[in-house]
Amino acid sequence: MNENLLHALNDCPPRLAQALLPYLSGEQFSASFSAEEVTALQQASGLSAPELAIALLPIAASYAVAPLSHFNVGAIAHGESGRWYLGANMEFAAAPLQQTVHAEQSAITHAWLSDESRLTAVTVNYTPCGHCRQFMNELNCAEQLTIALPGCATQSLHYYLPNAFGPQDLGVTQKLFDPQTQRLSEHDDPLVQAAIDAASQSYAPYTRAYSGIALQLASGHWITGRYAENAAFNPSLPPLQSALILMQLHGHPVSALRRAVLVEVAQASLSQREATAVTLSALGYHPLETVTVTVK
Ligand code: THU
Ligand code: ZN
Repeated sequence: MNENLLHALNDCPPRLAQALLPYLSGEQFSASFSAEEVTALQQASGLSAPELAIALLPIAASYAVAPLSHFNVGAIAHGESGRWYLGANMEFAAAPLQQTVHAEQSAITHAWLSDESRLTAVTVNYTPCGHCRQFMNELNCAEQLTIALPGCATQSLHYYLPNAFGPQDLGVTQKLFDPQTQRLSEHDDPLVQAAIDAASQSYAPYTRAYSGIALQLASGHWITGRYAENAAFNPSLPPLQSALILMQLHGHPVSALRRAVLVEVAQASLSQREATAVTLSALGYHPLETVTVTVK
């Protein structure tokens, strides 16, 4: 178990800490809990589901990478399947602040990349910033989504974001987490094809500049990330950030990175290439391969 997780256990109620130990010490801990595991943790800790979610926030926050602010934010995205997905903020020293990932975006993207089809709630240890409220307003569950915070009554997203600007203002009816299957041209290289598959599931209703990334690790395995646009444009999440969220939550250090392939649509109205290269090089990794594909 990594040191940060070990420290976070000290911030959990003792009965919960004891019940968590077998999960966290396993090699394969995926920074998420199935519905059955949530029930088992409730029984072992004596906590209700909302109390348990709040009590688990130090565990989520232990995944934070915050070299600039040293401010660790933890969040849990509650999937409709009953699975709880942890997330944490991620900062990149030497890259522009706009590249930062917020804990809410991390937990939500974790659920999205795990093929969850809808969320019911988000639990977070600090009040969500305006950017995150806007990011959450893009979700297919935005009308029903609730936000839970320590010491506050649970409220709807619309309580936190009244008179919201959203997809409907731009005439877009689909939402983030609705299934996306863009038909893109194929490739022989399996890593490039993995990035194409990610791009085909990316959410880009405003620009159609679908993109995805595949990061190959020293073990030979790869992690993919999908681009997620937002009606207000700035809170959009680039494909690299999406993949880095999963790398961090699944315990893979950036030093394990061996190949990075970005896939974009040919002649798209925008490109992720420069920003992706800047963020990768801020992480000490250089060669970025870019492949363009056509929409079939
Ligand atoms: N942060 C979040 O993760 N969520 C919020 O909604 C508030 C801010 C992070 C971003 C940055 O890494 C640090 O907290 C300081 O703003
Ligand atoms: Zn935020």
